[in-house]
Amino acid sequence: MLYSAIVFLEVVAAAGRKSQEADRRTDTMSAVVNDYGSASYWDERYSSSALQEATKSSDGTYDWYNSYDNLRFALRRIIAPDDTGDSNDGNNENPEHKEILIVGCGNSALGCDMYDDGFQNITNIDISEVVINQMTDKYSSKEHMEYTVMDARNMEYIPDECFDVIVDKALFDALLCGENNLDSVQKMLREVYRCLKPGGHYIMISHASSKNRMHYLTTSPLQWDVEVIEVKKPVITGSNLKTNDNDKKSDFHYIYSCRK
Ligand SMILES: C[S@@+](CC[C@H](N)C(=O)[O-])C[C@H]1O[C@@H](n2cnc3c(N)ncnc32)[C@H](O)[C@@H]1O
Repeated sequence: MLYSAIVFLEVVAAAGRKSQEADRRTDTMSAVVNDYGSASYWDERYSSSALQEATKSSDGTYDWYNSYDNLRFALRRIIAPDDTGDSNDGNNENPEHKEILIVGCGNSALGCDMYDDGFQNITNIDISEVVINQMTDKYSSKEHMEYTVMDARNMEYIPDECFDVIVDKALFDALLCGENNLDSVQKMLREVYRCLKPGGHYIMISHASSKNRMHYLTTSPLQWDVEVIEVKKPVITGSNLKTNDNDKKSDFHYIYSCRK
């Protein structure tokens, strides 16, 4: 098993206020008595108009941690390493053919943004029927993008080894704050491993550093190579968005790239 750490100092100048709110919320996740692993908690949350209004952006989406804009460079490097991201450079390995599963999609814009960036076979799942109905209505025009109610801990309708990439932004962290947390994260990781093609990537985006995540990712029977990419968080100073230069652990989000 290979563990490597790359410090990826991306300047995330385009991030918005909603990402900051997500960070704050997640940093206090473990102190809050919410069951982030239960469907009823999330159904209620996505049904609550007050909460929706407080957290979502003008387009009705809400992204935990970070937006695709800020993660794009790192994600493309994992998913399409030979592709520079410039569709006109003649070096495109057709990333749109990759089969991508987003687990715990919520009402994040990630699926839509990836779709618009060329990854056109995207399946989004979430345990909340409420948010899946909302997202199905919202993105009905995206022909090859699906939204399905499914528990990531039991993806029995998904055959073995059928996805090239499985993206998890804040789901692992949420399950770790729920009831039966250790059982939940183990079940999810086993299911993710089963559904990944050999050579495929599980991409976990977390607020926690490798000290608090690596042991979950390297427990038997998981046999994958794990690379950790640090993405610097944006900070808001007054009305300006600036990159924080102090490099404390809390200044980063972490992308765990697990290659089966
Ligand atoms: C912290 S939110 C993250 C949402 C989104 N990925 C983002 O980055 O903004 C966690 C999401 O996971 C969903 N969820 C919780 N438990 C789940 C499970 N067992 N299977 C699938 N989705 C789940 C919740 O409904 C919620 O939408």
